[in-house]
Amino acid sequence: MSFFVTSKVWNCDHGYDETMAAFDKSLQKLGLDYLDLYLIHWPSDHYIETWQAMEELQKAGKVKSIGVSNFKEHHLEDLMAHTDVKPVIDQVETHPYFQQKELVKYLHDHDIAHEAWSPMGRGSDGIFEDTVLKAIAAKHHKTVAQVILRWHIQRKTVVIPKSIHQARLKENIDIFDFELTNEDMQKIAELDTGKRIYRDPDDKEFLEKTANTPLPD
Ligand SMILES: NC(=O)c1ccc[n+]([C@@H]2O[C@H](COP(=O)([O-])OP(=O)(O)OC[C@H]3O[C@@H](n4cnc5c(N)ncnc54)[C@H](OP(=O)(O)O)[C@@H]3O)[C@@H](O)[C@H]2O)c1
Repeated sequence: MSFFVTSKVWNCDHGYDETMAAFDKSLQKLGLDYLDLYLIHWPSDHYIETWQAMEELQKAGKVKSIGVSNFKEHHLEDLMAHTDVKPVIDQVETHPYFQQKELVKYLHDHDIAHEAWSPMGRGSDGIFEDTVLKAIAAKHHKTVAQVILRWHIQRKTVVIPKSIHQARLKENIDIFDFELTNEDMQKIAELDTGKRIYRDPDDKEFLEKTANTPLPD
C-alpha cells in the first residue's frame, strides 16, 4: 500500500523562518523524511515569504509538490506575481451547495488542480436528504454520498472525503463503476446556493485571530 501525505502550514507559522521550522516539526511528528504535498492553509499575512520557504523546501527535495488552500483568485494572482513556482493545487471549500464555479474555471484555465475540502458539505443543510441528489442516486443504484463524490470527479476535482467508519470509507471510494449523465450534472449545478459552511478567505478578523493561535501539539 502506498500513501500520499499532505500537510499544511498553519496561520501562526507564516514567514520564511517560521515556515521552515513548522515544516521540520511536521516531518518530525510524522516520522518522515519528505512530504508529497505541502500547502499554505489560509492566505494570512506574509504568505509570500511562506511560499518562498516552500520553494526552497521543494528545491531541497523535502517536499515533492507545493500548493495552497483557501486562496481566492486575487490571492493566487498576487502570489504568482511575486514568486517563481506556480502552486500545483488549491484546496478550497467545495460541495454541491457551494460550487465555486468561477474559481474552478480560473484554476482550470491556469492549470492548477482544484481540490475540494468538505466535499459533502460535512453533511450539513440536509445535503444527504436533498431530493434532487436522492433521485439521481436512486436512478444509479448509488448513495447520495457516492453521487456527490462522483460529481466532483467528473468536474476534475480532487476530493478528500472524511469518515471514521470503515463501511463509509469503502462506499466513498466505490464511485468508479458508474457515470453521471450531462442532465444529472446540470441538475446538480443548479443546487449551488453560493453559501459557505465555513469562513471566507477574505475574513480579516478570522485570519488575524488564527495568526495568533497556535494549533495544539
Ligand atoms: N483546508 C481547509 O481549510 C479544510 C477545512 C475543512 C476541512 N478540510 C479537510 O477536508 C476533509 C473533509 O472535510 P469534512 O470532514 O469537513 O467534510 P466532508 O468530508 O464533506 O463530510 C464529513 C462528514 O460526512 C460524514 N460522512 C462521510 N461519508 C459519508 C457517507 N458515505 N454517508 C453519510 N455520511 C458520510 C462523516 O461522518 P462519519 O465520519 O461519522 O462517517 C462526517 O460527518 C478533511 O480531510 C478535512 O481535514 C480542510
